[in-house]
Amino acid sequence: MPKTIIEPFKIKSVEPIFMSTEAERERYIKEAHYNPFLLHSRQVTIDLLTDSGTSAMSSEQWAGIMRGDESYAGASSWDIFYNEVRDLTGFEYVLPTHQGRAAERILYSQLGGAGKVFLSNTHFDTTRANIEFGGAAAIDIPTRLAADHDSDHHFKGDIDLDLLESNIAKYGRENIAAVILTVTNNSGGGQPVSMQNARSVSEICRRENILLILDCCRIAENAWFIHQYEDGFDKKTYREIAQEMFGLVDGCVMSAKKDALVNMGGFLGLKDAKLAEECTNLLIITEGFVTYGGLAGRDMEAIAQGLREVFEPEYLNYRIVSTRYLGEHIRAKGIPVLYPIGGHAVYVDAALLYPHIPAEQYPGQVLVCELYKRGGIRAVEIGSVMFGKYDAEGKLVPAASELVRLAIPRRVYTQSHIDYVIEVFDEIKAASKDTKGLRIVKETPFLRHFTAHFEVLPSVASASA
Ligand code: F0G
Repeated sequence: MPKTIIEPFKIKSVEPIFMSTEAERERYIKEAHYNPFLLHSRQVTIDLLTDSGTSAMSSEQWAGIMRGDESYAGASSWDIFYNEVRDLTGFEYVLPTHQGRAAERILYSQLGGAGKVFLSNTHFDTTRANIEFGGAAAIDIPTRLAADHDSDHHFKGDIDLDLLESNIAKYGRENIAAVILTVTNNSGGGQPVSMQNARSVSEICRRENILLILDCCRIAENAWFIHQYEDGFDKKTYREIAQEMFGLVDGCVMSAKKDALVNMGGFLGLKDAKLAEECTNLLIITEGFVTYGGLAGRDMEAIAQGLREVFEPEYLNYRIVSTRYLGEHIRAKGIPVLYPIGGHAVYVDAALLYPHIPAEQYPGQVLVCELYKRGGIRAVEIGSVMFGKYDAEGKLVPAASELVRLAIPRRVYTQSHIDYVIEVFDEIKAASKDTKGLRIVKETPFLRHFTAHFEVLPSVASASA
């Protein structure tokens, strides 16, 4: 039996990739003020900015797009969507939204407000923003094992149970609006959460009468890791593992742009009739009527089909193994990566790659510019550009780490595309000692990473800088 794990699909429709020379890219990135968010997609060769909304749909999903019933109320596409989500999650109440953050806005504005606290393995940016916008606090309590970027512990996405207990005691159970378990933990390096941890979190929440919500946008990928590495799951299907996890929680928010293999969409799933009714009121005001919410009938068909395909063993195995292929190969070249490799992305530690570039000169942003300049590859900085703050004296308070995320769109790139990315890292490593830092010349007070302008510093920083 040949060992090569092949892409378990063949290509029916193709889209051109735009090639460019290094000289052209130097000009494009300068014109984009050294911020790849300001590049045009036609200037990008391999786009690893996000795995969200960038999936290739299957022929069955496209067939569903044609079948979509666009009736305002009671469309047959709603029945198909509802039955699929209900069967997967077990939740009676399903609220369709235009994407994940709309589900977050509805649920967390209903639960949150001043004085309330949310606890999570790590709040994703939009999760935190929706919670804080409503006046509540969002506290991250990841397992301490997550801080060690080199150990090969398999479930670095877990919640720290001691911190969960101590925070409940500190703030009082009546003030904890919800515990949010994000699978996989995107902001924590795409690391999976074990079933054991989910069970323990669930027991604590039940004992304390606290609502437990699953951010399930990458639940199929998370199920792969449980199947592979947790005792007692190798005989279960990926879908059964996901269903078991849904059985431990009171509700879920999902961005369908990830593991439902579509370009837009999301939903909120709930058990409790009263909470569902309150959220439905917000859904009707801000998204749409109950049987479509923020979605067209065709979107609901594609999501229902995507939720079936994502649990197919050949797909899921190819998906995780191909992400790991990129991570292991660049690690073997001496590129420092967050380890083990997670499900949807490879995270490079730019502070270790460029030890001479201090946080004030944004090593992560330097690496995303290098990736673009040398290979036309677009990635995203997750470091002091995204999370840095200024103190009262205007001095940068750096982020905890200077990471760059290479997120892999689902079913989009083939192995030769990934081999190309791996090769580009050879050049990046060879040039690393002579690579110059950046400074910010223009920025906004919130979410500055989307729009900030940078300038390359005139000389390479000294090691003591
Ligand atoms: N929760 C998680 C864990 C996410 O990763 C995202 C989006 C959302 C919620 C929000 O969903 O975009 O549909 O509104 N993550 C994207 C990313 C943007 O690039 O990781 P959305």
